Amino acid sequence: MGDLPIQMKDQRSWLHHPASVHQDGITVEGLIRRSLEAKEFAYCPYSRFRVGAAHLAHDGKVFTGCNVENACYNLGVCAERNTICKAVSEGYRSFKAIAIARDLIDQFISPCGGCRQFMREFGASWDVYLSKPDGSYVEMNISDLLPVSFGPEDLSMKKVLKIPNQY
Ligand code: THU
Repeated sequence: MGDLPIQMKDQRSWLHHPASVHQDGITVEGLIRRSLEAKEFAYCPYSRFRVGAAHLAHDGKVFTGCNVENACYNLGVCAERNTICKAVSEGYRSFKAIAIARDLIDQFISPCGGCRQFMREFGASWDVYLSKPDGSYVEMNISDLLPVSFGPEDLSMKKVLKIPNQY
């Protein structure tokens, strides 16, 4: 697959302007391409809604994943969560960016609330590239997607009560 065109049709302030190298030689376009490739493996016989994701870890390693559904519907796993689990289970907890892809022509992908929270666990300020199949994208940040979020830090903040061990 060659370089994908960047087409900006939306004027919202967080729209990304042409950019290339993210870091470590990984381009935004390259990361999006990996998410588009991962989408091809989506197992979604029930929704027929394919999603792919590519996570860029702190050291430049890229993890990819897709949604995996199940005949017991509620057991299905989103692409973003699947990809984070792959990365974490290989020892990675620090991410620089994620690119997410799906098939809708006219809308940039919008990750579900559960995946926003799942991603936020690993930091509130890393980059999220929401793409369309033609490779166009918008750049957002975890905190744009999930403002005033709840994260691991909250658990250790000052509490009004000393909670007894029985909890
Ligand atoms: N899906 C994802 O993979 N990521 C999202 O952020 C939204 C939804 C999947 C779950 C399910 O397999 C299909 O898309 C339809 O909801």
